[in-house]
Amino acid sequence: MLFPTLLSTALLLSSAAAIALPVTSDTDEPAADAVLTDAEVAEYPALSFGADITETAVEKRSGYSYGGGYGGGGQRRCKTIPGDSQWPGTSLWNLLDNFTGGDALEKPAPIGSVCYAGAGMDAAKCASVTENWFDSSLHAAHPSSIMWPLFQGLTCLPQDGPSGTCTRGGYPVYVLTARNPRDVQLAVNFARNRNIRLVVKNTGHDFSGKSSGSSSLSVRTHKLKDIEFFAHLNKYGHSGPAFKVGAGVQGFEIYKAASDNGVAVVGGEGQTVGWGGGYIQGGGHSPLSNIHGMAADHVLAYEVVLANGRFVTADADTHSDVFWALRGGGGSTFGVITSILVKAHADLPTTTSIFNFTASPSDIAAAGGMDDFWAVVKEYFKLMPAHTDAGIYSYFNIFPTAGGVAGQQTFTMLPFFAPGKTVAEVNSALAPVFAKAAALNVAIDPYTVTYPSFYPAWVHGFPKERVGTWNTQPGSRLFPRASWSSPSTFDPLFAAIKAQTLLGGLIGIKLAPTLAKGGNPDNAVNPSWRSTVFHGITFAMWNDSLRDPAAIRENQRVFTEVNMQRWREVAPGMGAYLSEADRNEPEFQHSFWGNKYERLYGIKQHVDPEGVFYASLAVGSEDWSAGVDHLGRLCPV
Ligand SMILES: Cc1cc2nc3c(=O)[nH]c(=O)nc-3n(C[C@H](O)[C@H](O)[C@H](O)COP(=O)(O)OP(=O)(O)OC[C@H]3O[C@@H](n4cnc5c(N)ncnc54)[C@H](O)[C@@H]3O)c2cc1C
Ligand SMILES: *[C@@H]1O[C@H](CO)[C@@H](O)[C@H](O)[C@H]1NC(C)=O
Ligand SMILES: *[C@@H]1O[C@H](CO)[C@@H](O)[C@H](O)[C@H]1NC(C)=O
Ligand SMILES: *[C@@H]1O[C@H](CO)[C@@H](O)[C@H](O)[C@H]1NC(C)=O
Repeated sequence: MLFPTLLSTALLLSSAAAIALPVTSDTDEPAADAVLTDAEVAEYPALSFGADITETAVEKRSGYSYGGGYGGGGQRRCKTIPGDSQWPGTSLWNLLDNFTGGDALEKPAPIGSVCYAGAGMDAAKCASVTENWFDSSLHAAHPSSIMWPLFQGLTCLPQDGPSGTCTRGGYPVYVLTARNPRDVQLAVNFARNRNIRLVVKNTGHDFSGKSSGSSSLSVRTHKLKDIEFFAHLNKYGHSGPAFKVGAGVQGFEIYKAASDNGVAVVGGEGQTVGWGGGYIQGGGHSPLSNIHGMAADHVLAYEVVLANGRFVTADADTHSDVFWALRGGGGSTFGVITSILVKAHADLPTTTSIFNFTASPSDIAAAGGMDDFWAVVKEYFKLMPAHTDAGIYSYFNIFPTAGGVAGQQTFTMLPFFAPGKTVAEVNSALAPVFAKAAALNVAIDPYTVTYPSFYPAWVHGFPKERVGTWNTQPGSRLFPRASWSSPSTFDPLFAAIKAQTLLGGLIGIKLAPTLAKGGNPDNAVNPSWRSTVFHGITFAMWNDSLRDPAAIRENQRVFTEVNMQRWREVAPGMGAYLSEADRNEPEFQHSFWGNKYERLYGIKQHVDPEGVFYASLAVGSEDWSAGVDHLGRLCPV
């Protein structure tokens, strides 16, 4: 258990000299599969393992109900923050650093600090950070930066320099960049033993800022990049191709590896999204979802560091409850995964179509409000069940026309994505839309082409998306296929989507990852996904010069309570996708996990009774609070 700071530091320093530490020289690469042993940490209380976690099948036990103030059996306390007497001194942080080989732990300055007057100012770096701010690779490569700075508190935006102050806000204090499971184990043990808030950052894509946290130690998985291919795996009930993928592997990397080996893997559309991180644990939708379901449906096993620091394999037979939870239950909750064993699939020639349309001059001149434009959009929406049944995915958006008249919108299809289909089949699938457009004098000029396999179709089809805005907040809904069955349900649904699109734009994804398509898996993926045909993402947007927290909060409140309510009303019984949802999603437990929430909550209590892992909107997060805007000290509630 915990020693007072002074005692433990002295103890640690005196024993440090006596023990042969596993030090690597600057030139040696640490072994990728290195694992921490009991013997190594025997004399270091700050790094020792926690209590054993039994493999009891949690689903067979009862007595857990969330919201009842479970409280972790009294083991949970407010997390220690800098300034507290219990916050570790430099020598203890040095010990942690020393165990990793002396170059994994750092205390990074906020990414924007180079733009603020003072010692850290650097004009060239500032210019580069500012220029690349909306590029996801900038934030993925930085130890602590995240792509939705709003949830960091906007305390050091490069755009706000050079006057004013840059403070750490919601960024972590220390970051440990892991090269192997052992580094992760050290970070988990240290944070748990010293009662420090632990966050897990991979790329920083998270829509709710879950890969950051104030006064924390962050363990960073971005550099766990190993990819191993098995042409014929015969294990875990799977007989066929598979990959073992490091938790830091991103979308573009797994797709390249799959292509190089002549197979396909279910992954996201986004180029830089952390495939092996939050993506797969949250479920993961894909351009292949209308053929293969969710990405998590294809996981065979995980390697994971649990809250007690133990490195284990979780699969259908071992730690099966954790395995179930890690396939849809969300990141930063049940452990830190270090690798994923996943099925691969047959590759297919793929046809993509790219097109756009906007309101015609006569439509703009007419009094009705661009009715023709919306009639073409509606024609497209009507086809969603037929398209998803045929295995076709699409990714499109509707935003105000750049430089257009007030209310004018542009629909951009980027792209219509049809694995296994020919150009003729794609043209036929889209024929009703093109016919409607022609009849209404709406110009569409599609660019439709067939690629020999998935990879080039994906490379050409999906441009890198803009991230890093601080004046928008996303929200989303899964819309049920059942609503497409009659005009009495479809018309109000379409009207609600149109109304919110006019306020906050729309990113639309046609997705029907049914259980059958996923191979009938039993996992923690939101059951709403299985009856979805359309995933709509929209935004609250405000003036980018706004910094007043109260005014921002009011914009968020209206978005959540008023605007998004329209979507909730036309999607009865459905929920939202946890990885692309409103940070203030009401009743997130059942919105993100439906009737699976109680089991997930039970598993969380079992494998992490002290609350080592926390992220807002994660399973069990209702037991904790970090105060207003989630930027304060994390305490049990
Ligand atoms: C531009 C863009 C495109 C996107 N496209 C898609 C898409 O096509 N399909 C889709 O399903 N989603 C998509 N998403 C959503 C994406 O899946 C989530 O944002 C996801 O959480 C990103 O995971 P990450 O590891 O890259 O991000 P991070 O922000 O680093 O991590 C996300 C969450 O997972 C946790 N986490 C990360 N790594 C680990 C680990 N090894 N162990 C435990 N916890 C971990 C973090 O603590 C955090 O809570 C997109 C998001 C963006 C911004
Ligand atoms: C680790 O600590 C030992 C003992 O104090 C010291 O000799 C060694 O240089 C340290 N190594 C690193 C990488 O910090
Ligand atoms: C719309 O499509 C045309 C080609 O048909 C293209 O030239 C134009 O750049 C596209 N506009 C947008 C906003 O994508
Ligand atoms: C945003 O706010 C600034 C400062 O109040 C103001 O000058 C600007 O005109 C506003 N921009 C828009 C688009 O309203």
